[in-house]
Formats: sequence, C-alpha cells, structure tokens
Amino acid sequence: MEQNKFYITTPIYYPSDKLHIGHAYCSVMTDAMARYKRMQGYDVMFLTGTDEHGQKIEEKAKAAGVTPQQYVDQVVAGIKDLWKLMNVSYDKFIRTTDDYHVRAVQKIFTQLYEQGDIYKGHYEGWYCTPCESFWTETQLVDGKCPDCGREVQKTKEEAYFFRLSKYQDRILKLFEEHPEFLEPESRRNEMINNFIKPGLEDLCVSRTSFKWGIPVTFDPDHVVYVWIDALTNYITALGYGSEDDALYRKYWPADIHLVGKEIVRFHTIIWPALLMALDIPLPHKVLGHGWLVLDGGKMSKSKGNVVDPVVLCDRYGVDAIRYFLLRDIPFGSDGIFSNEALINRINSDLANDLGNLVSRTVSMVFKYFDGVLPAERRADAVDQELIDLAVSVRGKMEQSLDKLEFSVALTDLWKLVSRTNKYIDETAPWVLAKDETQRDRLAAVMYNLCESIRIISVLITPFMPGTAPKIQAQVPAPQEALTWASASEWGLLPAGTALNRGEIIFPRIDMQKELALLEEQQKAQREAAQAETKGKAEKANIAQVAIDDFSKIDLRIAKVVACEPVKRSKKLLKLTLDDGTGTPRTIASGISPWYAPEDLIGHNVIIVFNLKPATLCGVESNGMLLAADGKDGAAQVIFADGMEPGSKVH
Ligand code: MSP
Repeated sequence: MEQNKFYITTPIYYPSDKLHIGHAYCSVMTDAMARYKRMQGYDVMFLTGTDEHGQKIEEKAKAAGVTPQQYVDQVVAGIKDLWKLMNVSYDKFIRTTDDYHVRAVQKIFTQLYEQGDIYKGHYEGWYCTPCESFWTETQLVDGKCPDCGREVQKTKEEAYFFRLSKYQDRILKLFEEHPEFLEPESRRNEMINNFIKPGLEDLCVSRTSFKWGIPVTFDPDHVVYVWIDALTNYITALGYGSEDDALYRKYWPADIHLVGKEIVRFHTIIWPALLMALDIPLPHKVLGHGWLVLDGGKMSKSKGNVVDPVVLCDRYGVDAIRYFLLRDIPFGSDGIFSNEALINRINSDLANDLGNLVSRTVSMVFKYFDGVLPAERRADAVDQELIDLAVSVRGKMEQSLDKLEFSVALTDLWKLVSRTNKYIDETAPWVLAKDETQRDRLAAVMYNLCESIRIISVLITPFMPGTAPKIQAQVPAPQEALTWASASEWGLLPAGTALNRGEIIFPRIDMQKELALLEEQQKAQREAAQAETKGKAEKANIAQVAIDDFSKIDLRIAKVVACEPVKRSKKLLKLTLDDGTGTPRTIASGISPWYAPEDLIGHNVIIVFNLKPATLCGVESNGMLLAADGKDGAAQVIFADGMEPGSKVH
C-alpha cells in the first residue's frame, strides 16, 4: 500500500546573524511535527534551508571584508550545526544560492514575464533593508517600516512588477472558501481586512541598486526580488523547473508551511498569487506562529539580549530546551522566555515528574524483583483508572497535534506522568513489599508502572527524541511496542524483560545559583553588544578621506635643535628644527604643560611639512608636530629618533 505523504516546511532563514532561540522555536515545532507524522506512518518530506540573497547580506559581507558567497557559506555552516545539535531531522536543506534553485527561479521569472504576469515599469517608494520589503508612503508608520519600526530608504529605480492586483479576487475567494488555509483565525482576519480588502497593488519584483541576487536572464542588470527568490524554494527544493521533478510530483502541494506571524502576509497573499500565475496547486495550510519575546521586549542583537540556543542546550540538554519551547508557548501566541520559567519547567516537569518516575520505578523493580519484570497483570480498580488514562492519551494528543497545539498535547501527556506518580503513592509498593501475601499485587503494580512508562516514552519521542531512548534503555521494549500505534495498547511489555539501572535523566537544577550564572553571562553579552554598537557608531561617524587627499599631506622627520617657552603663552613652546632642507624651521606647539625644552632638544619628531604657516602668540609656526593623546588629556610627542632629518613619512 502506498504511504500517505506529508510535506512540511520551515521558513528559510536569513544567514545574516547567528540564529537565536526564537528561530530554534520554529524549527523545533516543525521537527516535532515531522517526527510525529513519521511515527504515524506518513512518508514525510521536511524542508528547511537558508535565504541567502539580498542587500542585507551584501552589506554584511562588505562590512566583514569578504565576498557575499564566503559570508553565507560560513554562516550557513553554523546554522546546520545548530540543527544537528538540536536534533532537527530535516530531509532536505535548500540554499537559495544552490545552482538548481537559481536556474529554476530564472525560468519561473522568464515564464511569468513571457505570459504577461510580470512587466517592466518604474519603482518609486520606500525600502526596508532588514525586512527586504517595499512600502508605499501611506503604508509607513511614522515614516518607518510598519513591520519592524526601523528606518526606510527612498528608492527610485527601473523595475519589473508582478501583477498581484490581477489576483485580488481569487485571493479573497481563497480566504473565504478555505478558512483552513490560514490559521490561527486572528491572522486570517488581519490579512483580509488590512491587506486584501484595501486592494492589492502590483509588486515590485526586481532590483538594480545592488548585485547580490539572482540575475534576470533577459535583463541582467536586474536581480530578482528576494521574496520571489525565497518563496519559490518550497517548489524548487523538490525539483520543480528542473529535469528531475519526481519529488515535486510526489510531495507538492505542501501540507503545512509553518511561519512566524510577520511573514504570514508573504505566504498567504504573494505566494498563492504566484502559484496561481504558474497554474500550480496551492499549499493546504499556512500556520502563523507567535514570537518568543523576552521580559523586556523583542530579542535584538543590538540590544545584546538574544538568547543563544547553543548555550542553553550545552547547559541543560537539548531535550530540556525542546520541551520548554513546545510546552510553554501556546501555539499562535507570543511566549515570554525567561531563565526562571525555563528552570522551573525543567525542575518540575522533567526532573521531578518524569525523571523521578523512571528512576523510582526502575529501582523498585531491582529491589523487589531483581530487575526482572514480573508476569502478574491483575487489574484492580485503581489499576484500571491508570490503564484507561494511558491508552486514551495518544488519541487526545493527536487531536491537538494536528492543530500544532504542542502545549496542549504535552499537558495531556503530563497528566499521565502525574497519574502514574500518584499511582505509586496510592499503591505504596514499600508497604506491599513487607507482606509476603501481597507478592502478586506488588508484581502487578511494578508491571503497570513499567507499562505506563513504555507508553510515555513512545509518546514523548517526537518532542524529546534523545530522552525516549534513554528511558527505553532502562525499561526495554520490543520494537513493536515502540510504535506510535502501540501507545494506545496495554500489556505489550513481555514478562521477564530485564530492566537496566541508568543515569538520572534530568538532574535537578539549583535555581538561585543557575540564575546568577546565567544573568552574569547575559550581562557580559549585553555589554559586549553595547560596546560593538558604540564602536560601529563611532566608525560610522568618522569622516573618511580618500587616499588622494591623504597623499597631499607631507609628513617628515625633523630634529629639535633648539627649544624655548613662548613668553606670551602658558602652553606654547617654540621649537627650532633641522628638517633636512638646510634652512632651520620654526614650529610653535602647545606642549609646554607636559614637556620642558630639554626633554625635546636633540630628539627627532614627525612634522606636517606642508601645513600653511600660522602666527601663534607672535611666533610664525611653519608646520605641526605629531603627538598622540595620552592619559588625562596629556599630549605625547611621537619621537622618531634614529631616523634621518628630512625623511618622508608614509
Ligand atoms: N528569510 C525569511 C523567510 C523566507 S521564507 C520563504 C525570514 N527569515 S528569518 O531568519 O528572519 O526568520 C525565519 C523565521 O524565524 C520566521 O518565521 C520568523 O518569524 C522566525 N523568528 C525570528 N525571530 C523569532 C522570535 N523571536 N520568535 C519566534 N520566531 C522568530 O523571515
């Protein structure tokens, strides 16, 4: 029988900076969904990648002194490492600089031009470089980008346009007839009322003011607008527009595009319109998730408050971070990240509830049955309650997971974890163990505990893929008892199974100590970011001179042959210099607070040889002495002893 296919995507990430915990949130959700569907027996295609063109990348590469390709190669390697660390099990990673993608985009652009969906015109308006978005005057909010609130640049250039306006009615119909196309509902209303109904304008889809993009084949001064380049990744990754489009035929249309709320507009208006123009079926669903924010607001590199997922995974383990992201943020809403919330979750749900359940149970089976699972399967009323709950959890979780409500699904699963812990308290195995006549009852309790743990370990697999095998190493189960379907069946663990004592799965964290440590680390990060921002601003404020201008300045070595204070001045010294010309030169310099004449006589200094003469306190000064800033505003003369007077300094 042919398997059902399931095609899910993350957005392709900008390789402009290191990714933060907010980006990880999106990939972890997609990964959990892909793993869940694989366990359900679907033939899954999970696509992720990087969106590598555009002005922003070009500027970053320039600032780093490398080519854009070198720049993205290095950042993309880091992104792949992060997904590896976080167990993100993508099936394909597309880079928009990949040859096959570039060729397919060029083909698509040409086709749309030839069929009249793209035409040439002039673009005049505003451009937000960080968002790579065009805006009209009226769309700006207080003159700034309506998406991110940053400065926009006025742009006027010859450009190609996509006839988005032509698709207005079909897009509105899509929203009205297929409410499931975009969820949650609040985002649907926003799209209809704020964007579609006010009228869709044709979209500028090429740029000439920078080079780092896919050239338009028939007009190579133009590069394709990054969002057109980026959105098409969802089909080019499957081979659309290439010689081998088998994957495209197998997996398209996408079942889910998972995207952050600020890019829903691109995915639910521009993307379907492009697909309509290409006469390609539309994706089934776009899900717009909320942002992970910090107590003080949005994460931003310049504020130095981005949370680095690598640091957290190294400290607490990947699965603890994955669990927190999936459990703590209700799908669709913004979620607040705080160190305290993270540690609380780890301590209560993972160390206390799940970790304790496994370690208590395994040690009791060792204590009472030498580590071998007994055969007894009696089901008293209290047992039946546990069993009924255990076999029903899978179905409940499926209802939430199909809507990507991970938090609800995990809450349901943790009800079973808590119920199983409570079962230990209710059955009190340590009391049963004291009574020889209760041996069978004790055996049944141990069996039920292990069976419940097996079910829990199966159901956590998509969310915590590293933890499930750790639990299963302690409570081993045959392969057929580890499938998703097996989680709603009771009694699959064979009697006689040998358990293994194992490590503590989630050690408890000392909250106070850890918070202090994290705060210290993050403070250092904030200070470094502030220093970097200040450094950048200083650099940006320096008025630059061209090399031609600099070469007009004639610097030379001169020897101080005589020196005396200038009578009418508190600061000036009058220096007589041998500048190699044979004619003594006089320079007045404001260094007497720090130098006596005898400190200078006989030493070589550097002078500006061709400075226009100026009269200072009655002394004609012919040039200037070079000095550096010393401590507390002191001047420090730059001595050049050992060099020939008159030598040029370059
Ligand atoms: N390159 C575009 C997407 C093109 S898709 C055809 C882009 N890249 S991005 O790197 O800026 O963002 C990638 C995803 O990360 C987006 O879905 C965005 O919403 C998400 N997040 C970025 N910061 C985030 C948080 N703080 N919290 C949650 N998600 C966040 O947009």
